[in-house]
This record gives sequence, structure tokens and C-alpha cells, in this order.
Amino acid sequence: MAVMQVSFYGHVRQYRNIQAEIDANVKRVIESGEYVQGPMLKQFEQELAAFHGTTHAIGTGNGTDAIWLALMAMGIGPGDEVITHPNTFFATAEAIWIAGATAVFVDCDPRTRNIDPAKAEAAVTSRTVGIVPVHLYGLCADMKAIAAVAGKHKLWVVEDNAQGIDGHGPGFKQGELSDAVCTSFIIQKNLGTFGDGGAVVTNRADIDATVRKLRNHGSTQRSVHSFGFNSRLDDLHAAILSVKLRHITKWTDRRRELAARYTKGLAGTSFVLPYEPPGYRHVFHLYVIEHPKRDALEKFLIEAGVDAKLHYPIAIHKQSGYPWGKLADASPNVPECELNAARCVSLPMFPELTDSEADYTIEQCRRFDEANR
Ligand SMILES: Cc1ncc(COP(=O)(O)O)c(C=O)c1O
Repeated sequence: MAVMQVSFYGHVRQYRNIQAEIDANVKRVIESGEYVQGPMLKQFEQELAAFHGTTHAIGTGNGTDAIWLALMAMGIGPGDEVITHPNTFFATAEAIWIAGATAVFVDCDPRTRNIDPAKAEAAVTSRTVGIVPVHLYGLCADMKAIAAVAGKHKLWVVEDNAQGIDGHGPGFKQGELSDAVCTSFIIQKNLGTFGDGGAVVTNRADIDATVRKLRNHGSTQRSVHSFGFNSRLDDLHAAILSVKLRHITKWTDRRRELAARYTKGLAGTSFVLPYEPPGYRHVFHLYVIEHPKRDALEKFLIEAGVDAKLHYPIAIHKQSGYPWGKLADASPNVPECELNAARCVSLPMFPELTDSEADYTIEQCRRFDEANR
């Protein structure tokens, strides 16, 4: 096979495919004269809520803000413990700290790499107020089991859905078994704008009202303020996202098709492949394989022209200087999260990836596997 360059992202390819729609909607906003909390944001928030089948959606400046704004709306503060897992993007824990609470790290499930609900339950103390499950790599966490733990111990649940939009589990939708769902629209996400953005999606009117106020300087009425912040989704981003939302289901289907191609092509190798439990719709934000010689694999793929990346090679509790005076257990017992961090490699995965690019990537992985058995 001739050498190919396979990129990790396809942002510009995607733009080219829907350029006329995006350009027209962006122009609409520019010509409207309303750019902050204007009609386009309102429209997109309604579309996003309808997409989730929830009653509310509130656009925020980014996905991290969406999480801490939702946590603040839950009324958390110093002394409160929030359970999550450390093999996720840093922002999950960061948001807990920004909201002023203690992050409690528990281990992940060895197959799904999502939070292990039994470990979450074992970590509940009298100070625990909530759980933040992450739909890591695009696979929904076991929300039924998490909701059962939360119900038993009277905890709230806020879903970190930065990676999982358009996914669902067996018999549950996102937002159905939690208090709020937090999403990121940073460009590389499955629904991404050309910059930063985020949203909180919820069925709770009180969360909607609090987040709406907090994101806008504690204000719902001009010149009248209470404690708050500035974290709004710009109307220009809403215009782009509104167009892209029309395509998301088709794009997810294509990601799933590519994932199936990878899985078939890598069958019988020494790689640990992504696991999709029955009844789930994994949206494959990332297609992550695991291998004990991870660093060598990454180097091999990059040298072969395949832009592989790592998500996430340093678990949060292993970051230098952790926990920086923030509130968290200095050395949590999370061997599976550490294994995930040590072995993960993400292969190129975006809807515009071609079959031949995927096949070339498979071929290079197989070459590595044969040489390293
Ligand atoms: C799991 C997870 N949580 C939170 C975030 C934070 O989102 P943002 O970058 O929009 O702040 C991201 C992505 O960046 C993420 O992958």
C-alpha cells in the first residue's frame, strides 16, 4: 500500500460539505444586528432541547463552564464531595473544583472505561452530594446503575456529555436519568463550532433558571444583577451549531460505520478494541484501542502517516503537582484508569474520513501488531 497521510480531524472537509448552509446562517446573524443572547441563540437552544427531548437547553461559553454552572445550580459548595473518575479530560474535575467542591475519584469499568457504578457507590460518604458520570469516548455511562445509586443515597447526577451527543443506552436517553446533561461544542467534538461553546440540557426548570441567570452576570433583567458570571454561547456559534445539528444523526451513523470497519479490520490482533454493550448507541467521538506498547504504537502510526492521538495519557490524579491544594484524594485507588491512560491510542475518527483512509489505518495497525506479537 502506498503511503497516505491520514489526519485526525476533518473540520474543513465538513465545512466544505455544508458550506452554503453555514454561510447563510452566519450571514443571517451578522445582518440581524443581534449577536449576544439574540434570536439565533434562542432558536438553537430550542432545537437542542427538542433534539434531547428535554424541556430546557442553555448555551454557555464552553463545556467546562456548562459543568460548573450546572453544579452551582445544584447548590454545591465547600465540604461537598462529588464522585467522578480520573481517566477523562481534565475539565471534568476542574469544573468540580471551580464549583468549590471536593472531587472524589473512583475507578472505571475495565471494558467500557466509564465510571464503575459499584465503585461509585462504595465511595459515598455523608458528605457526598452528587455524581458526574462521563460518557467517555462517546459511550453512555451505565446511567441505570448510576441513577439507582443516586436514588438510594439521595444524590444528584450531572452527565458530562462533552463526548457523547446523540448517544443513548438500552432504554434510556441522555437527560432522562439525571438532573442535567452538559455538552461541549469545541470544534473537535461531534457537534462542534469553529471555536468554543457549550450547553446545559435539563428537564428541571429551576436548573434552567439558575444557569440562565448565572451565565449572564446574575441578571435576567437589564441593569438588575446578583452574583454571576459571563459565559454565554455567542449567536454566531449558535448559527453554526443550528446547521450542524441537522446533520448530527447522519454523522453519528457514519462514525458508527467507520468504527465497525475498524473493529472488523482489527479483529484477531493483540489490540483491545472499544466495547459497546448491548442496546447502547456509541457515538464514537473517539475510537480508542489499547496496547501495552502504546508509545511505540503511537510513534509507528505517526511515522506511517496516520495522525494518532492519546486520550488521555495522564490520568488527572497523575498530573504534575496534583492536587494543587484543591480538594481531592492525593492517591486514589484507580488501577483500571491508570491502565487506560498507559495503553490508549485514538485512531482517526470523523464522519468525513474515507473508507480508504480507514483501511490504510487498519493496515498500519496490523503491521505494528505483527511486528510486536
Ligand atoms: C469529557 C470532557 N469534559 C469536559 C470537556 C470540556 O469542554 P470544553 O473544552 O468545551 O470546555 C471536554 C472537552 O473539551 C471533555 O472531553
